[in-house]
Amino acid sequence: MITANEIRDSYKKFFESKGHVIMPSAPMVIKDDPTLMFTNAGMNQWKDIILGTKEPEPRRRADSQKCLRVSGKHNDLEEVGHDTYHHTMFEMLGNWSFGDYFKEEAIDYAWEYLVDVLKLNPADLYVTVFEGSPEEGIARDDEAASYWSKHLPADHIINGNKHDNFWEMGDTGPCGPCSEIHVDSRSDEEKALVPGRELVNKDNPQVIEIWNIVFMQFNRKSDGSLEPLAMNVIDTGMGFERLVRMLQGKHSNYDTDIFQPVIREIESLSGLKYGFTTLQATMATERANRKRQTLPCAWLPTTCVPLHSPLPTGSCRATQRPAM
Ligand code: ALA
Repeated sequence: MITANEIRDSYKKFFESKGHVIMPSAPMVIKDDPTLMFTNAGMNQWKDIILGTKEPEPRRRADSQKCLRVSGKHNDLEEVGHDTYHHTMFEMLGNWSFGDYFKEEAIDYAWEYLVDVLKLNPADLYVTVFEGSPEEGIARDDEAASYWSKHLPADHIINGNKHDNFWEMGDTGPCGPCSEIHVDSRSDEEKALVPGRELVNKDNPQVIEIWNIVFMQFNRKSDGSLEPLAMNVIDTGMGFERLVRMLQGKHSNYDTDIFQPVIREIESLSGLKYGFTTLQATMATERANRKRQTLPCAWLPTTCVPLHSPLPTGSCRATQRPAM
């Protein structure tokens, strides 16, 4: 079995062979950016380069960045412990181009690495492209779609909305349309019943996003407007734990050699037995189904996602708060 360390090394070697300089992970606590508390993406440490206020050389970089998604725009805290593929802290494999290559090479590199190097089955891969946003004055990303069509049939290329396919670092800062790569790791029987394309971005624990390729083209200003960047930037982020899980043939990130040694040690110290039980699996599916519903909220002037099982009528996270 290929180990997690070997997979991380192979990513770095691949991008080194494409002229990227391998950089160290930045600290997770951000010191000089008041818009962010913790590093939530590999690009954080390159924000000033992307905005054009810092020297871009070397223009091709790659790394494995430790990220913490517990607050702000990218907050996974509600997902952790409920499913098999979200973590508060995780590693993000990234490659960047600062005014060097753009959409075509970024897509070709991702494809070459996943399919030619790691041997993922192309039939299991689906990609999304930004459908466009009339209110932002941005058209569908036909360019990215055309580059993907070199590698994938049309029914594996799916339009995605602003929530999933326009990536923003925070309320302000670098942003742009993105293409996500999703992997369908269900059994052949399940695939025959429901095509993978119908499960992309639907919270199915076996059809998950592994890599996000962002085509950074704008800076979101504090008044909400978009200012074009002086150069085109590629910013990619691949979920290391998810990739390892695919390559090790597991159905949960926790079953990989990233987590198992720690889990086994905890088992031996505590006498407790690790396992994603049928009950937990059922609860995860129920939760995923509920996420697709929204209910009128009794407490806030909004709709909300019910969180707990069994579901009390009209419950929402606001009901967990003390009365004000
Ligand atoms: N910055 C992008 C992300 O975090 C790659 O998804």
